[in-house]
Amino acid sequence: MPNRSFTVRVQRQDHPSKPSYWQSFSLNYEASLNITSVLQRIAAKPETQDGAKVTPVAYESGCLEEVCGSCTMRINGRVRQACSALVDRLLEDDPSGIELRPMSKFPVVRDLCVDRYRMFRALERLECWIPVDGYYDMGGGPKQSVQQQEQNYPLSQCMSCGCCLEACPQYQQVSILRQDDETDIEYEQRRDEDLDRHFIGAAPMSQAVLMNSNPTGQAMASQRLESLIAPGGIQNCGKAGNCQAVCPKAIPLMESWGRVNRSATLHVIKKFFDG
Ligand code: SF4
Ligand code: SF4
Ligand code: FES
Repeated sequence: MPNRSFTVRVQRQDHPSKPSYWQSFSLNYEASLNITSVLQRIAAKPETQDGAKVTPVAYESGCLEEVCGSCTMRINGRVRQACSALVDRLLEDDPSGIELRPMSKFPVVRDLCVDRYRMFRALERLECWIPVDGYYDMGGGPKQSVQQQEQNYPLSQCMSCGCCLEACPQYQQVSILRQDDETDIEYEQRRDEDLDRHFIGAAPMSQAVLMNSNPTGQAMASQRLESLIAPGGIQNCGKAGNCQAVCPKAIPLMESWGRVNRSATLHVIKKFFDG
């Protein structure tokens, strides 16, 4: 049985340019708390274990049902969603308390909030969408076989949480600071050009596979494959499989890697013979 109170250690950071530091909070035990509820309790009474009054811990949350991915953080060393991490289970595994840290592969904005822009930029770079020619009724789209649907549906469950990128040894944090004399547009252009040279990671790759296997999305398959084999693309993957091991949606990312490698090889051979 958990103790009547438990300790939560939080790695905090006041600003992207400031160093991080630790604070500990003591909370009364309540049955069936999740980590988001813990952070709500701390926000309601932001006082450390030593009685110091502090600012509330900043964190993100949206759906509260492991669908949006916004609450992703490192909990007792494991990257996962705060809304589905139950205190009872965490204390069973480690009665000494709970440790919360932001993800390490994205720049910290404040406390447990990180900037996952790089992942969304990779989705943009790989054109992970189905193009539509207007919004009028064009009737039923091309059909997919049951086998295709069964293969592709799991990929559509990606919530862009970033767990796969956090666990990937090939994916390192990139922090592009703004220069004093830059306009917004100049900074955004330089940031995107720089990010586009770095590894895309598993989630954007798998979304490109999903879009390329859609009968309508196939219209842009060659463009996506060109982006997938460009610098920072699929050749950077070491195939260790950490990404699949941590995915909360159990997305078969290694199967996606196999599919994308086969398609990329055929694409390169076709380009060679097409001149
Ligand atoms: S592939 Fe899995 S771990 Fe990666 S972003 Fe999507 S849901 Fe999260
Ligand atoms: S298989 Fe590739 S994407 Fe997945 S963790 Fe390993 S290097 Fe990263
Ligand atoms: S709040 Fe949406 S996944 Fe946790």
